[in-house]
Amino acid sequence: MTILITGGTGRTGLKLAHLLSKAGHTILLTSRKGQVPHPFKGVKFDWLDPSTFTNPFNADRAIDRVYVVGPVGVFDTLPHVKPFIDLAVTKGVKRFVVLSASVIPKGGPVAGKVHEYLEKIGVDYAVLRPTLFMENFSTGPVTPNSIRLRNEIGSVAKDGRVAFVSVDDIAKAASDALLVKKSWNTDRYIVGPELLSYDEVAALLSQVLGRKITHKRLTPDESLSIWTTVGGLTVGLAKALIKTQTEIANGAEVAVFENANKIVGKTHLREFFESNPKLWVI
Ligand SMILES: NC(=O)c1ccc[n+]([C@@H]2O[C@H](COP(=O)([O-])OP(=O)(O)OC[C@H]3O[C@@H](n4cnc5c(N)ncnc54)[C@H](OP(=O)(O)O)[C@@H]3O)[C@@H](O)[C@H]2O)c1
Repeated sequence: MTILITGGTGRTGLKLAHLLSKAGHTILLTSRKGQVPHPFKGVKFDWLDPSTFTNPFNADRAIDRVYVVGPVGVFDTLPHVKPFIDLAVTKGVKRFVVLSASVIPKGGPVAGKVHEYLEKIGVDYAVLRPTLFMENFSTGPVTPNSIRLRNEIGSVAKDGRVAFVSVDDIAKAASDALLVKKSWNTDRYIVGPELLSYDEVAALLSQVLGRKITHKRLTPDESLSIWTTVGGLTVGLAKALIKTQTEIANGAEVAVFENANKIVGKTHLREFFESNPKLWVI
């Protein structure tokens, strides 16, 4: 039996690949170019090109579970993901584990309608709803450079707190959801072990780096301008991101952390900063 990992070159997908292969499972990764990191096997696959949907099943007829990371930067992924789910079911796939987000309810944008669809068709599934990734501080065009060049972390989140989660902990939850005998058939939040405000994050990073990092409190307009220029996001996606941060300011992620339906990761933000200090050196 084989586990197909879509988004296999991405942050959670690649960690998941390492976890599953270390545990002796057969896996197949996808990427738009068809190239995946050594030593994994990969196939060309593009959510926006349905002619690539049969590639995984032509490469391996034993695929029975799929990790779904939908097309990035798409507001509603269901029109792209549904035809693949339908095909996969006919090819013998028995379980789908979908990466969504804490802010996205069933039926909502991005992966929210995929969540709703899987429940509707009655196939085994799990929906992972992680909070903000710790890795947002180390990868991407905006925050890492802002730390390196200006010693600032910008946000509109004010004093709102978030239990930042590591991609290692998300991959572990994905692995558990794929392998557990009785499928979850529901969603679960994935959070880190502690709630921190952006002021506290900046103080933590200052201690680790030995230089002063500050939390710059941005207005929504300032943030929109940064994310659409430096960040390269569309106005719609930048506004969605700002809305998420505004909700953080209003306590949304504290409510997620206090929700009983969650998996709590092990990695503390301090450990994450301490294991990567060179990332923020100019
Ligand atoms: N960042 C956060 O804090 C956060 C929090 C909660 C949830 N999330 C969710 O996490 C998901 C992944 O985000 P990420 O930034 O971590 O991305 P990522 O997984 O690091 O990268 C995206 C992956 O998807 C693949 N991909 C992109 N477009 C594709 C397409 N059209 N067809 C097939 N594959 C495609 C890429 O592979 P190739 O380039 O090799 O094709 C890559 O492996 C998003 O849906 C987001 O909603 C993020």
